Amino acid sequence: METVTGIAEVRARVQAWRQEGARIAFVPTMGNLHAGHISLIELARRHGDRFVASIFVNPMQFGPNEDFAHYPRTPARDSEMLTAAGCDLMFMPDVAQMYGQGATPPTRVEVPEISATLCGGFRPGHFEGVATVVAKLFNIVQPDVAVFGEKDFQQLAVIRRMTADLCFPTTIIGAPTVRETDGLAMSSRNQYLTTAERAIAPQIHAALLAATRAIASGVSDYARLEREGAAQLKAHGFHLDYFAVRRRIDLSVPSPADRELVVLVAARLGKARLIDNLQVERG
Ligand code: PAF
Repeated sequence: METVTGIAEVRARVQAWRQEGARIAFVPTMGNLHAGHISLIELARRHGDRFVASIFVNPMQFGPNEDFAHYPRTPARDSEMLTAAGCDLMFMPDVAQMYGQGATPPTRVEVPEISATLCGGFRPGHFEGVATVVAKLFNIVQPDVAVFGEKDFQQLAVIRRMTADLCFPTTIIGAPTVRETDGLAMSSRNQYLTTAERAIAPQIHAALLAATRAIASGVSDYARLEREGAAQLKAHGFHLDYFAVRRRIDLSVPSPADRELVVLVAARLGKARLIDNLQVERG
């Protein structure tokens, strides 16, 4: 695997592969890789001949009081894991490479409505930061296929919408969430949990399972399920941002006719803000 930090170097490698007729698969990450990322990478490799991963902790998607400065950065280990996973090129730009040195704020990509709900309401500007950096990365790498985790369900929806609206010739693939054996969704932010909090954290998955089982068996009083899910998590010591039943396609509030649903949670436990979701078809 080759590691590059410059945009021109990425373009040169990708252009050479294209001339050989290769399909390019891409996984953007913020590094600190774990088994969840490796599953994205394995999926990406099935869809391309050459595989590129990026590692960039994107300042634009962190709020002023969030964990940008402390976000875990483990480039040496990430490089080993990407090499073992069969990655061809690791792109690791710095902030100046991605956003320049100027005092002028960068051009932004805003995906309205779908960015404003759920996490967007609690993290203003977050999805604008995500959409902007992913658009830039797509322009740099020009992938045929890009893979994103379903754990960040709203992020995936925002990226799908942006890709369609801006006519990127990239197919977006969602990869299933990878869980610890007790159900906790894998996340770099799980490391912020104390031992006691880590023991409580799987309750998020348990609450999601309870809600989705009820919906699959025909319950359609979503407001009640949301109240019950939130109460269950609060009783375990979580501070809830939301526990919400939404339409899968656009994350709007479902009507009685909607069947393709997703239940989403964002909850804080100590220093960690955990998100998770489960998709369900109404019974
Ligand atoms: O999911 C992430 O790790 C990030 O939000 C992404 C997509 C790499 C953009 O910075």
